[in-house]
Amino acid sequence: VAEKIDYVAEIARLKKEKNAVILVHYYQIAEIQDIADYIGDSLGLSQQAAKTDADMIVFAGVRFMAETAKILSPNKKVVLPDFNAGCSLEESAPYEEFKAFKAQHPDHIVISYVNCSAELKTLTDVVCTSSNAVKIVESFPKDQKIIFAPDKNLGGYINRVTGRNMLLWDGACMVHETFSGKMITDLKAKHPTAEVVAHPESEESVLKLADYIGSTTGLLKYVINSPQKEFIVATESGILHQMRKSAPDKKFYVAPTSKNGHACKACSDCPHMKLNTMEKLYLCLRDETPEINLPAQMLVDARKPIERMLELSA
Ligand code: 13P
Ligand code: SF4
Repeated sequence: VAEKIDYVAEIARLKKEKNAVILVHYYQIAEIQDIADYIGDSLGLSQQAAKTDADMIVFAGVRFMAETAKILSPNKKVVLPDFNAGCSLEESAPYEEFKAFKAQHPDHIVISYVNCSAELKTLTDVVCTSSNAVKIVESFPKDQKIIFAPDKNLGGYINRVTGRNMLLWDGACMVHETFSGKMITDLKAKHPTAEVVAHPESEESVLKLADYIGSTTGLLKYVINSPQKEFIVATESGILHQMRKSAPDKKFYVAPTSKNGHACKACSDCPHMKLNTMEKLYLCLRDETPEINLPAQMLVDARKPIERMLELSA
């Protein structure tokens, strides 16, 4: 009979032995969130990756996040539980296509959402995350021409908030685009005092219903501090674990999703984020693979727009 591995204990042991740090995004499964050394949104995670003194970073999130950690800490080993954990936003902006688009607009600067490949970051002037996007866009003069990639929903939201007219790349998050404004309105009718909180990767029809719009950390802080007791949450379902832990007296409902006109229960789970399991996390720490390795020049070129973001959001 195969011996059952105590992943929590083994991960703690290996982490100490190897001087590793475990960085976890809020969209991970509950068990992984519970063993994090640091849990946060994309900005918080990249700030941690930049300043950690661990020898190895274990990144429980998706590949572009682990790549960002590697770019910021190129001399550290960065491993992730599943190399196939991609992102629909990243996929929507292939390097060659984007390069050609950029060449057609030579008078524009490029601001990229961190949810893109390292290669795409090399074509970028400044990176942003959902928590600093408005601030970063506003750091440029009003008449500055800007291409915003790859998320058209986040880009559209920033355009509306700032009164700008950035050129938007046609990408979207496969999770957030399934939230249904109509179904959220119906759910709200059943819970009239519930506040709607939404991630800006959601479509305009959903954002219009929101009492608060922000990054995952922003959403979490908002629900903790709000005097309300019920919330409809329009972002990936993983965040509800932290919300329930932080505010056990409050009620949280995942915003309903629909696909092709039909209700879809699993649509609020990101299939990329949810590839990670405790077993895979344990194995990547034990075997130090899969590891992020990027060409030396790409590490240098992709670092500049990320460092600029960190400076602008300090
Ligand atoms: P934040 O945690 O930065 O809000 O990002 C959300 C997201 O979609 C990550 O993939
Ligand atoms: Fe990408 Fe959306 Fe998944 Fe985040 S939730 S990793 S944006 S597909």
